[in-house]
Amino acid sequence: MPLISDRPSSNNRKLLQLSLLVLFLISCPAFAAAVDGAQALARDHGCLACHGMLRKQVGPGFAQIADRYRNDAAAPSRLAGKIQGGSVGTWGRVIMPRQSHVTDEEAKALAGWVLSQPPP
Ligand code: HEC
Repeated sequence: MPLISDRPSSNNRKLLQLSLLVLFLISCPAFAAAVDGAQALARDHGCLACHGMLRKQVGPGFAQIADRYRNDAAAPSRLAGKIQGGSVGTWGRVIMPRQSHVTDEEAKALAGWVLSQPPP
């Protein structure tokens, strides 16, 4: 009875295609929203007053930071800590003051976003 054995597999394939489509549709806007969200966070938290997206201003450009830590698996959590706690001596003698208005979640999102910047 080929009909009976055919049915489930073609249904399964349809289901798989449908779930892939749904996954694709929900993941794209979600990713875009996360990126937009982090960029808005950086703006709202005043990061862009000191950091350029590409080149050094008061602090290093976000693309320069991403480039430096591209192969550093510990970078996301270390940078999240530095975003909240501040930093000095890694890029020069200018101090990045502690950003205590940034929550843990925001610091993680910001660190991930900074590290995702393309090379300068
Ligand atoms: C008052 C200026 C200033 C502000 C505001 C500022 N930064 Fe910085 N930032 C710096 C400086 C200067 C450095 C370099 C510090 C050093 O050499 O260790 C730096 C370094 C960094 C680094 C790299 C640290 C490392 O270990 O390489 C990251 C990531 C970073 N800042 C993210 C942020 C984010 C996100 C914000 C906003 C929440 C922010 N900064 C706000 C000046 C600033």
